[in-house]
Amino acid sequence: MRLERTRQTEHLGSVSIYGVRRVLELDSGAKNPQINENAEVQKIEREAIDEIEKKMVIVLPIMNEDVKVFEGVLSAMPHECFIIVLSNSQRGEIDTFRVEQDILSRFCQTTKRQALIVHQKDPAMARALSEAGYPEILGEDGLIRNGKSEGMILGILLSKLLSKEYVGFIDTDNYIPGAALEYVKHYAAAFSLAKTPYVMTRIQWRYKPKIMGELYFKKWGRVSEITNKHLNNLVSAMGKFETDILKTGNAGEHAMSLALAERLNYGTGYAVETEELISILEQFTGMLPITNKDASEKGVEVFQTETVNPHLHADKGDEHVVLEMMQPSLSVIYHSPLCQEKTRELILTELVEAGCLEPGQEPPPVRLMPPPQKADMARFSGSLSADLHRFFVPEGLPLPVAGGRGIGEQVKKVVFTDLDGTLLHPGTYSYTPALATLRQVQSKEIPLVFCSSKTRGEQEMLRQELGVGDPFITENGAAVFIPKGYFHRPHSYDKVVGDYTALELGISYQEVKHKLGQVLDEVRAKLLKNAWLGSLTVSCFGDMSVEEVAMETGLNLKAAELAKQREYSETMKVQGGKQAVELFLVELKKAGLNHAFGGRFYTVSGGNDKGKAVKLLTELYKLNFGAVMTFGIGDSENDTPMLTAVDQPMQVQNQSQRWTKLKVPQLVFVRGIGPEGWSRCMTELVA
Ligand code: GDP
Ligand code: CO
Repeated sequence: MRLERTRQTEHLGSVSIYGVRRVLELDSGAKNPQINENAEVQKIEREAIDEIEKKMVIVLPIMNEDVKVFEGVLSAMPHECFIIVLSNSQRGEIDTFRVEQDILSRFCQTTKRQALIVHQKDPAMARALSEAGYPEILGEDGLIRNGKSEGMILGILLSKLLSKEYVGFIDTDNYIPGAALEYVKHYAAAFSLAKTPYVMTRIQWRYKPKIMGELYFKKWGRVSEITNKHLNNLVSAMGKFETDILKTGNAGEHAMSLALAERLNYGTGYAVETEELISILEQFTGMLPITNKDASEKGVEVFQTETVNPHLHADKGDEHVVLEMMQPSLSVIYHSPLCQEKTRELILTELVEAGCLEPGQEPPPVRLMPPPQKADMARFSGSLSADLHRFFVPEGLPLPVAGGRGIGEQVKKVVFTDLDGTLLHPGTYSYTPALATLRQVQSKEIPLVFCSSKTRGEQEMLRQELGVGDPFITENGAAVFIPKGYFHRPHSYDKVVGDYTALELGISYQEVKHKLGQVLDEVRAKLLKNAWLGSLTVSCFGDMSVEEVAMETGLNLKAAELAKQREYSETMKVQGGKQAVELFLVELKKAGLNHAFGGRFYTVSGGNDKGKAVKLLTELYKLNFGAVMTFGIGDSENDTPMLTAVDQPMQVQNQSQRWTKLKVPQLVFVRGIGPEGWSRCMTELVA
């Protein structure tokens, strides 16, 4: 790109504001060191623009825009830029947001890129911001308030989460994709000229009111003109000489380095763009106490460029609405401690003349939101970790992000795995096909948490054989055993068992056994009276000999003995008529006992499931490692709660080479029976 060199610059303390630069050539061709540029010209090489684009997020705020227009804007976004669509569109019966998701999803699929789409009213976002210590963005209903500026702040925080360097904003009501593309090029060009990490660039639109013939454009022109006039009044008084340097006081199309973006205050509604400039002037010119030493030493630069494409966007406002837009912009100027009496008076006169205020009234102050850096990013990402995958398009794990560390690299991965039928072959109990991959998982220091209906004894044997030293969840979520000293932060526990601390969720074996006996007595009595229900045979491991258990399970004697050592649950084999079995299971539930079917046996326990245990342990990992990403891998129905509790659930095939039908959202189906499938998906996970 070739830009006109700017002649005009205002220096106010550490802040440099450059006059508007015009584009001389949008594409300046290949590098040619032989050519000496004209002194009037600044050439920005393509490579420099490419480099910046890789580090840039483009936030697309959207609220019920024409989807065709939205599609046009999407198609104009340079491939290397990461897109975040921030929507506040209608949900419910007519689900506009769903349509936007579909469009973005198709776009990403066909163009082989990845993007984020977030609904501003998503409760997970509100929760994350509240936990991160940024409640100022929340409304009375506990959700993020309406407004483009609220969306922008969320966009800034998500860009930080993606470890990007720059964030740019482009409205999605733009009818000219070529203009949207040009904005991105302008952003990149300005950033490549910047001498400081604290930089902002703003677009001055070129529009042709005569061609549009719309009142709106003239009015909008007037609003901008008035905002700029008063901003320049303020700057003039600060610098003690006349200037008209600012032409972009209302520029919706603008971009910033995240280093600057996270330090600014944001006004709600139409005040947002003006407030950004005010915030820069307040914080970095030295007229008020300096807020950041680094920024004031390195300087803050504000670029302005004018586009060659016309700006043509949706016309929503009538004259009245357009005038309303003026008031918030002027209000943030008026209420700034930098604003002198003279400028204040001029603003009041302006607003009274426009009919926005009665004489003697003051413009109501605009609600300001604190700098986004106030939000604790570890908490923010920690709180989002369970939900993050569903914001990605294509849904799932973030791809490695170019130009920065991806989310996937920053967070600690934790794997929860079922044993029988998953890590262990459903027929042979062999883990051999998984062994090589398991070693890779271990070498990457990815915790491998066994989560199974197996007993502590059984799992201990396997842990020893495989050299796995991570916490484990026994008897279908009845207890979590954590090796002493595994977590560096202290945590509460229910008891100490050998070298472990144990968190107990389930009731004791004795209690389970007692209740189970009662239920069985009742059910048997009922069945006697209602012979048509069929017969029922229940054989419990606890009542069987070691040999019998070995026979039933195909386990060897040692393993069968360990399987019998139950602490919180009973495993049973249930046979009989369909109705009889159903009645029995219903009665179990009524008695407060849970049952889970692992393929052949039922595990009965009280007050616990794999999901709760997984969540508890996940919390401990978060407490110790910050952001974590959890993976779960299982094969059958009793894994459902575990799979539902992790960020990324995965399912291996059962013995008949099928996937048992499970109700788990976002489940990834892995080819391969048991350990074979296990090995396949873990290979991808460590890659
Ligand atoms: P104007 O272009 O300045 O007249 O303002 P618009 O009302 O057209 O809004 C500018 C952009 O912000 C458009 O892309 C809108 O779809 C979007 N937008 C408006 N309100 C909201 C909101 O509450 N949340 C989000 N995320 N976007 C919004
Ligand atoms: Co618009």
